[in-house]
Amino acid sequence: MPIKKVSQKKSQLSKSKPKSIRLSKDVIPVHYTITLAPDLEAHVFSGTETIDIQVKKNTKNITIHSKDLELFDVSIKQGKTTENAKDIRYDDKHESATFVFGKSIIAGRAKLTISFRGILNDLMRGFYKSRYHVDGDERFMATTQFEANDARRCIPCFDEPAMKASFQVSLVVPNNKEAISNMLPTAVTEHSAGYKVVSFEKTPIMSTYLLAFLVGDFEYIEHTTKKGVKVRIITVPGKKEQGRFALDVTLKCLDYYEQYFDIPYPLNTLDLIAIPDFESAAMENWGAITYRETELLIDEHSSLSNKQRVAIVICHELAHQWFGNLVTMEWWNDLWLNEGFASYMEYVAVDHIFPSWNIWSQFLFSDHDRALRLDGMVSTHPIEVPVHDPNDIGQIFDAISYSKGASVIRQLASYIGQEAFRDGLRYYLKKHSYKNTETIHLWQAFEKQSSKSGKKNITKMMDAWTKKPGYPLVSVNERAGTLTLDQKRFLSTSGKNEQKKNSMFWPIPISFVASIGETGSYMFDTQQMQFGLPELDWCKLNADETGFFRVAYSRDMLSKLSVPISEKLLSESDRYGIIRDIVALTETGEYTLADTLSFVECFKAEQSYSIWSEIVVLFGKVHMLVKGTLQEESYKKYVCDFMIPVFDYVGFTKDNNEDESKTLLRSLVLATLVRYEDKKVLSWVAKQAKENQKNIPLDANIRGVVYAGMAKIGSDAYYAQLLKNYHSTDQHQEKLRILSALGQFEGEKYIQKNLKMLFGPDVRKQDSIYLFMSITSFESGRASAFAYMKTNWTEFKDISAARNMFSSFVKSFGGFRTDKDKKSVKAFFEKKGTVGIELALSQTLEKIDQNIAWIGKNKKEAVMYFKK
Ligand code: BES
Ligand code: ZN
Repeated sequence: MPIKKVSQKKSQLSKSKPKSIRLSKDVIPVHYTITLAPDLEAHVFSGTETIDIQVKKNTKNITIHSKDLELFDVSIKQGKTTENAKDIRYDDKHESATFVFGKSIIAGRAKLTISFRGILNDLMRGFYKSRYHVDGDERFMATTQFEANDARRCIPCFDEPAMKASFQVSLVVPNNKEAISNMLPTAVTEHSAGYKVVSFEKTPIMSTYLLAFLVGDFEYIEHTTKKGVKVRIITVPGKKEQGRFALDVTLKCLDYYEQYFDIPYPLNTLDLIAIPDFESAAMENWGAITYRETELLIDEHSSLSNKQRVAIVICHELAHQWFGNLVTMEWWNDLWLNEGFASYMEYVAVDHIFPSWNIWSQFLFSDHDRALRLDGMVSTHPIEVPVHDPNDIGQIFDAISYSKGASVIRQLASYIGQEAFRDGLRYYLKKHSYKNTETIHLWQAFEKQSSKSGKKNITKMMDAWTKKPGYPLVSVNERAGTLTLDQKRFLSTSGKNEQKKNSMFWPIPISFVASIGETGSYMFDTQQMQFGLPELDWCKLNADETGFFRVAYSRDMLSKLSVPISEKLLSESDRYGIIRDIVALTETGEYTLADTLSFVECFKAEQSYSIWSEIVVLFGKVHMLVKGTLQEESYKKYVCDFMIPVFDYVGFTKDNNEDESKTLLRSLVLATLVRYEDKKVLSWVAKQAKENQKNIPLDANIRGVVYAGMAKIGSDAYYAQLLKNYHSTDQHQEKLRILSALGQFEGEKYIQKNLKMLFGPDVRKQDSIYLFMSITSFESGRASAFAYMKTNWTEFKDISAARNMFSSFVKSFGGFRTDKDKKSVKAFFEKKGTVGIELALSQTLEKIDQNIAWIGKNKKEAVMYFKK
């Protein structure tokens, strides 16, 4: 099967020189003995370590990673002789230090001892401090976040994923504080007055990015599994009971993975710790997984979607305990392997634990669609991407690694079958335990397990999906009993489609469902393919949307599909796939807006949460066209009328024992009706707001909607009421809900208040993005926020240091829709320096281009349509 080589434009990520940041392999760490003493009052820490190393070649120099640490008392011991380093040379660019010795270190074993000091920072990376309160008293804990390459900010180390070693950790802490690390404590001994030393069991061989050290006031709930694994959910004082749901999910998930991977969980302890200040959602440190509070804790203020998210994140991080921790990527270019896989397994496990959630239908919207959108842009990148510069590592934790990664793994699992997939994994994990791998090792494992069924060329097939950017658009035509399929790369930016025509194709496992039943699956690995088929009423390609591609049906075929959609002869996933592609293909101009609006009528009777999510996307796109025109009002009425049947189905209140998907659908429907100012919904909001003012608790599932409705109505009293709620709660999910609603108040005075609040004392640094995204979700907010950023750049400086977060700030401007705005966004960030945000910026600019093109092409048509 020929996969054409594409001449790849130099990716945004590959500007740095290859290899330059790898450590020499002449010195290899074997074991670390670490003692670390954080000072929670002075916000500094000190430590000493001895690293047992294997020296391959005689040398006078040893280079090790270290960033923002002061190193001293460095010595090396070989046999009985100890020698102090003559010089320590710091290299800021490579985040390393070189120790220079007077005499050669002879090839063989040696012990390297280093003392060091550093600052407990507030960047949420390396060894950092997080703020919490006990009885109104402000306190700080010390905690770590090392992935990808920040272990070097805490301990001098060989900070590369393949430099695995074992670790024996001791933490020196005040007597009244708790200490947590990857393993269980083996001894607590007295240190100086008021201090104790907590020593932990030696870890298995592992990568530095998975280490964790925490010191603070903690409380926990726990349960020991039948196999003796001690599982704890750990929180700051006063919150441990909010860990019940997480404990239950963790125990079930642990059980499930042990059986699925056929390998016992490798440690005897598993802590899940909720940290008040945390940059990402969660981090899979081996045996000591850290979380944002919102991603772990559940109480009566949590909605169903909060619960589902917690379950998803737990199952994701637990998957890493095997895939990632036990078997680790050789280097960061294979990061996708970790993240794509865990992003797939999270659904497998949640589906097992909560079958009634029908969670796979959410995969389609949250991951599959997200990946198709991003990967349909010119500014995308291949899944497997060369990374050299440390700045680039952060950038590839994106929807391509996660969501496209998960989607192509799902495509493969469905192609080779669930059993061969599971067996391949078992083989891979057992074969490479405590070692490092590259992507190809996984394909080889699947090849081994699936060759029985004749599906041998997995590597070749998967290379096409992971080494090239983008994915195919399959066009399909039916004539006189023959189905003709064509493929070309899908690009959402108009014009490019034609120009790239025929330039590449993919090996696509293709399947279909038709009026005559299932028609099996085939490998479509040429430019064109034909099938002779008996006469069909209708035919839907990509059964259950397991493949990673879009389909463009001929007008005739598409119109025939309206019947199995409205009569629900097609599965939810199949119906979903049709509407998703129609929306995308209307954007590229393949279908006209009028045709799409008339086709979408057949979805009116839908009751599926994910399908409605997609219809709401279409509503938003069309809204963009009529915004500010005379037709805007009639458009709003059109949307509200369109939703009458689904509103009648969900109503305002929850039935006992209703399906979970109905609960989610209700929030979506009401939120949409709020957005389009449905009268009955807005007066219901006013009533709920009154209850809320009287402190009558609202069902957490509709709280977000009520708050958004209050913002839509937009009075000073409502703003004040929400702000008061914000200050009176310490529940982070509730705080975020309110923050998002505050951001939606549209008047300029609210926008300015919100912008002032962004980096003020009341919003944790990790949360300001929620407020910012909300402010930038509407036109005047976006303009004011950009103006504010330009004049108050210093306030954004801290954020711009935390690059993953900064990317999200940049992406918030993707809603701009004029060339002038595009130019000023580009000019502004280029002037400020784009290091670490190159990808986010190019995606944002392309998104603005898409908006411009969409409006240019369809505005007239939309206005005409809604004049009727
Ligand atoms: N390994 C990541 C955490 C991470 C992300 C570290 C970025 C360094 C940089 C973790 O396993 C993860 O993927 N977390 C996700 C949540 C998950 C459910 C998709 C996150 O934090 O968004
Ligand atoms: Zn992950």
